[in-house]
Amino acid sequence: MINNSFRKYLVRIILYKVLYLYNNMTEFICQNCSKKFIHKSSYTKHLNRKFPCVKNTSPVNINTIIKKKKSSPKSKSNTNLLRFMDLFCGIGGFHSAFDKLPISTQCVMACDIDKRCGILYKKNYNIDIEHDITKLDPNSLADTDIICGGFPCQPFSNAGKKKMMSDDRGLLFDEIIRLAMVKQPKFMFLENVKHIRKVGNGEVFQYILDTLDKNGYIVQTFTISPHEYGIPQQRERVYFVCVRKDIYNNKEIVLPEKTDYHNINLEEFLENPEEIDNKYFINGDILKSLEVWDEMIQHFDIDEKISPTIMINEAYNNHTPEDFENYAGWRKDYITKNKPLIEKYQPQFDSWYQKHQDILTRREIYGKLEWQVGPIKPNDSIFNYFIQLRQSGIRVKKPHYFPTLVAINQTPIYGKEKRYITPRECARLQSFPENFILDEDDNKSYKQFGNSVNVDNVYMVIYTTLKHYNMVE
Ligand SMILES: C[S@@+](CC[C@H](N)C(=O)[O-])C[C@H]1O[C@@H](n2cnc3c(N)ncnc32)[C@H](O)[C@@H]1O
Repeated sequence: MINNSFRKYLVRIILYKVLYLYNNMTEFICQNCSKKFIHKSSYTKHLNRKFPCVKNTSPVNINTIIKKKKSSPKSKSNTNLLRFMDLFCGIGGFHSAFDKLPISTQCVMACDIDKRCGILYKKNYNIDIEHDITKLDPNSLADTDIICGGFPCQPFSNAGKKKMMSDDRGLLFDEIIRLAMVKQPKFMFLENVKHIRKVGNGEVFQYILDTLDKNGYIVQTFTISPHEYGIPQQRERVYFVCVRKDIYNNKEIVLPEKTDYHNINLEEFLENPEEIDNKYFINGDILKSLEVWDEMIQHFDIDEKISPTIMINEAYNNHTPEDFENYAGWRKDYITKNKPLIEKYQPQFDSWYQKHQDILTRREIYGKLEWQVGPIKPNDSIFNYFIQLRQSGIRVKKPHYFPTLVAINQTPIYGKEKRYITPRECARLQSFPENFILDEDDNKSYKQFGNSVNVDNVYMVIYTTLKHYNMVE
């Protein structure tokens, strides 16, 4: 029999033990982002990332920080202040670049027709943007030293319809000139897709250069991509650096030397795999279709060339010679060019296609493989690369840098981890600061980063120009 006092003693011991265990079970909590971790190793990894999280900043805090650095957009001019107008501002790629300059800057006006971008712009830069540029009266706007803008590129880009000048959006460039003629900024920094040089046999490009020249600006253009400057994204863009003729110093602006993209450490731009939400991992039909193609890749000999796009459903559609004759030229061309590869591996293709016909025909995309990574290598796999599901097929791209982020729904898949890249990773690929507040809707966020400029590329162009004119140290 246990006597009463011994029972009390036992209860106390148990209570102490429970309290002790409770205290030691507390999770690890990041002081900056408040994320909780059960394992110390995950917590330490989280703290040691190349891009550590910044203190959780509510929009109010961010605004206070911004206000400290900037004066109000409506304030009078101040000679030590560099004023800029952010046209077609989107989520503010140019604005973030101006924020990095080693001088005080002030955004006197930003405009974008997309209301959602406006909300995000307000959260990040504390400015209420204007909307339709065509409705702006330049005489009622504040004066500015610089106008910047990546004018809408849909009619010019390869991804768009190449409609050229017949599309109203193509003429939005003229809106920049309309404002510039009244505001007479010293510099303009304009941006567009590289393809703009070629549209209409170069007519659009020439029109832009001629219009700038006629209106008093000397223009120098640069075609650069983030991957040429240490950032793992291929995104060639043309920058038009326009200098007002009366201040032009007759000397060419020279950008810093390009760097070797093989030296980029891509992993530094990725989030910690343990912290990535399940929703970013591919599954279902998409994963299945990639696994099916990966199975076929294993049958190919080393050095085999997988080109052009394999259109496997075309090879097995049992068309008659008459059907074939009536096909469009491009379709005949693919079928003819795929033939040697399919005949070389006929037994493997036959049993593979029979086994997986269902998934390969479920969506047109699943039946097309665009292998853009050269001849087959030892231990090759589709999952060694970046993958994009495009209308033209499953596109497999080199692993050195991410494919261009685009505004349409083609978020790259990081094959190694079988997942889409996250909006925060997109922000890093576009060199936005780590404390940039993202849109809550991932799809909107992907689109916004697909449309935006690369902040570091823009910064380099602006900084180099201003330094060339002794306006920054
Ligand atoms: C290529 S994006 C520019 C993105 C921006 N540079 C950034 O860093 O996010 C072009 C932008 O022009 C805007 N836009 C199109 N038509 C417009 C108009 N009439 N007035 C103002 N903005 C317009 C689009 O909403 C889009 O955000």
